[in-house]
Amino acid sequence: MEVVIVPDAQAGGRLVADAIARLLRRKPEALLGVATGSTPLPVYQALTGLVRSGDADVSRARIAQLDEYVGLPAGHPESYRAVVLREVVEPLGLDPSAFLGPDGSAADVQAACEEYDRALKDAGGVDLQLLGIGTDGHIGFNEPCSSLASRTRIKTLTEQTRVDNARFFDDDIAQVPHHVITQGIGTILEARHLVLLATGENKAEAVAQSVEGPVASLVPASALQLHPHATVVVDEAAASKL
Ligand code: GLP
Repeated sequence: MEVVIVPDAQAGGRLVADAIARLLRRKPEALLGVATGSTPLPVYQALTGLVRSGDADVSRARIAQLDEYVGLPAGHPESYRAVVLREVVEPLGLDPSAFLGPDGSAADVQAACEEYDRALKDAGGVDLQLLGIGTDGHIGFNEPCSSLASRTRIKTLTEQTRVDNARFFDDDIAQVPHHVITQGIGTILEARHLVLLATGENKAEAVAQSVEGPVASLVPASALQLHPHATVVVDEAAASKL
């Protein structure tokens, strides 16, 4: 595992956007796994800048979603599908048909999970998966104690994650769904390159446990230690407990 410490979130965004641009030069049709939350936004902004200046070509790139809430009404602005369309697909000028994601409003959620896991494989697998990290060490929505071999499936959110994510729902925890679909840790580990980005002091403990602690299902992001090509990009605050 490679750990890169950058001065701040903007520098982290530029570094990851440059890595994506390099990948696209080598493989224009790369499948990019994107994460939601606040942390990756500087990556998407930097990548959009590179596209506008002609330094990155995303015209053939494909995008895959990491996770999704279950049961939000179709078109809800905080569904991860809506977030990825708004923050990634539209600014990059991609066609929505280049975008793969699980169906959080499916009548049969388990079937939707299996279908999405298969769709990722059928698409040739994820080339670069961008990850954030929860304050409890979760990746995607794989909460602590998720099996390190898990596949895409339905999960129940912990109270901590619902509290953390209430800021996207008018600070009202009652509006935060209880259930989600997430790529499993085993699914995530199949991506060719994992890039975990963490910024801010509130992530320092989770980063330290993931990078320097034992590999344990209690700290889902520690599974990155098992991956042959994992990069952890942290700002100085998130690196402060390393
Ligand atoms: C959610 C997402 C994760 C993300 C995490 C941290 O739980 N499912 O993919 O990494 O939030 O979000 P933030 O970057 O806003 O701290």
